Amino acid sequence: MSTLRKILVNKDKHCKSVWFMRQAGRYLPEFRKIRSQNPDFIELCLNSELSSEITLQPIKRFNLDSAIIFSDILMTPYALGQEVKFIKDQGPELSDFNTERFLDKKEKEFSHKLNPVYKAIEKTRKNLDKDKSLIAFIGAPWTLLVYMINIKKNKNEINFNKLNQKDININQILDKLIKFLCIHIQNQVNAGADIIQIFDSWAGLLPENIIKDYCFVPNAKIVEFCKKEKIPNICFPKGIKEKYEDFNRIVNPDGINLDYDIDPLWVKNKLKDVVIQGGLDPKILLKSEKEMLEGATKYIQAFKDIPYIFNLGHGLLPETDPDRVKKLIEFYRNN
Ligand code: CP3
Repeated sequence: MSTLRKILVNKDKHCKSVWFMRQAGRYLPEFRKIRSQNPDFIELCLNSELSSEITLQPIKRFNLDSAIIFSDILMTPYALGQEVKFIKDQGPELSDFNTERFLDKKEKEFSHKLNPVYKAIEKTRKNLDKDKSLIAFIGAPWTLLVYMINIKKNKNEINFNKLNQKDININQILDKLIKFLCIHIQNQVNAGADIIQIFDSWAGLLPENIIKDYCFVPNAKIVEFCKKEKIPNICFPKGIKEKYEDFNRIVNPDGINLDYDIDPLWVKNKLKDVVIQGGLDPKILLKSEKEMLEGATKYIQAFKDIPYIFNLGHGLLPETDPDRVKKLIEFYRNN
C-alpha cells in the first residue's frame, strides 16, 4: 500500500508521505523543454505519451511518494464543448458559454473527448512503482463555473451581475457539472488513479450567503460519490479562512488541503476527523534556506501527532529552484 493511502485510508499517523501541487510544471527545466516544443497547452494535455512522461519527471528527479497526473481542471469544460485557450501571462480564456448546448451534452461524447487523459493515467500507472499513489483530480463545480461563464473581474472579485443573469440557471448547471465530474472521477480511477483531489481554488471569493449552495453542497455531493465508490478523496477549498470548519463538517472528506492563510494551530483544534495535507506557503521556497526550513518545521511540529501529508498551501511557483524542492523533501524525511 502506498504511504499516501496508509495515511488517508488507514489514518496512520506515524507514516510519512510527500508530494507537491504543480510538482510537474514550469520550475522544471525538463518540463519547459517539452512545453517549448508544444505551444498548445490543451493539445499537450491530450498527448498521452507526453502527459505521462511529464507526470513522471518529478518522481524521477526527487523520488516523491505520489505522482499527480499532468492534466488540468479545465479539461472538463473542454470536454463539455468550450474552447480553452491559455493566453501567456493572462491565464485561461474560454469561448462563450451556451447554456442550452451545455445542458444537452451527452456522457459518451464527454468521456470520449477525455480518453487521452485516461490513456495517460494507464500508461503512468504501468511505469510507476507499486508503492506510489497516482493522484487524479477535478476542479470543483464553482471553480469551473468561474472560468466557464467568465465571471472573475480581477484577482479577487466576482461579477455578480453576470452570475445572476436570468438565462443562466446556476443550480441546474452545477448539478450537470457534478454529474459529469463524477463520471470523470470514475473514468480516471478505472484507468488506474487511486486518489482524487478536488480543487475549489476560487471558493474564497464566495460571500457568506451563497458559499453553502455553491461550494459546500457541490463538494459534499462529489465526496459522497467518492465514498460510495470507495475512492479516497482530498478537498482543497482555497481561501475560505475559518469556514474551513463548516466545510469540513458539511463535506466530511477523507482529507483536506490547507492553504497558506490558515494557521496550523487553529487547524489542529478545529478540524477533527479528517486527514490534513499541505499548508506551507510556496513563496517560502523562494526565500533563504533557513526561512524555508523554519516554515516547514512549523507544519511538521503542529501535525506530528495526527495523520498528516506533507505538501504546500498552493502549487509550486514557476520561479522555484528545483534544488530547493529537493532540500525540502530531504528535510521533511529526516525530521
Ligand atoms: O503537477 C500538477 O499539479 C498536475 C497538473 C495540474 C495543472 N493544473 C497543470 C498546469 C493541476 C493539478 C492543475 C490544476 C489547476 N488548473 C487549478 C487548481 C489548482 C490551482 O492552481 O488553484 C486551476 C485553477 C487550473 C487552471 C489553470 N491552468 C490556470 C489558472 C493556469 C494558468 C496559470 C498558471 O498557473 O500557469 C493553468 C495552466 C497550467 N496548468 C500549467 C500547468 C503546468 C502551466 C502551463 C504552462 O504555461 O506551461
